[in-house]
Amino acid sequence: MIEDRHVPVFILNNPLRRLTESPEKFARTYVSPGMVVADVGCGAGYYTLPLAKVVGPQGLVFAVDSDEAAVRVLRERAEKEGLKNVKAYVSPAEKLDFIPSASVDFVLSKDLLCCTVKHKEVVRELARIVKPGGTIYISVRSFPFSKDPRDVKKSEWRELLSQFEVLRSKQGVTSSWALLRPRSI
Ligand SMILES: C[S@@+](CC[C@H](N)C(=O)[O-])C[C@H]1O[C@@H](n2cnc3c(N)ncnc32)[C@H](O)[C@@H]1O
Repeated sequence: MIEDRHVPVFILNNPLRRLTESPEKFARTYVSPGMVVADVGCGAGYYTLPLAKVVGPQGLVFAVDSDEAAVRVLRERAEKEGLKNVKAYVSPAEKLDFIPSASVDFVLSKDLLCCTVKHKEVVRELARIVKPGGTIYISVRSFPFSKDPRDVKKSEWRELLSQFEVLRSKQGVTSSWALLRPRSI
């Protein structure tokens, strides 16, 4: 069995990340007060906490990661910051039974997919929980020449995206992202 790839908290929350990724700007771009958000593969909350601040007390953020240590740090940080609108779960992303179907306005899956072999199962869950008209932001890291089965190959990435309406996307050598909407039936 191929294990999930976990990333140490000190790397996830490394302040140097801010030089290239502003989670506050990201949150302001994609969510607004009162929204229900799911941060799937949330790590130690690099994006979760800024998202929770923007959705505010009328909103809610489900935060999910299979790494217990990361979720523990996230819970501590949310408590320290007085954020009561974060519900954090230690769970595999391919089994989000605690999030009702069609209940989430914005789903974030930041660099999760390339940490598991369960690509199809995870994407199925992301599609299940998002509301009609809601959006999914999904990103992956690529490791050229790697043969790790957790990596998402370019052809597989295109196939996964083809199930959705692609609102925006960018494909680079080492990372790709897309903003998706479930196709209306
Ligand atoms: C590259 S990290 C990104 C974390 C976070 N999104 C961020 O940007 O800081 C990927 C995260 O996915 C988690 N992960 C890996 N496989 C998972 C799975 N099957 N279900 C849930 N979380 C998973 C890892 O524990 C890790 O925290």
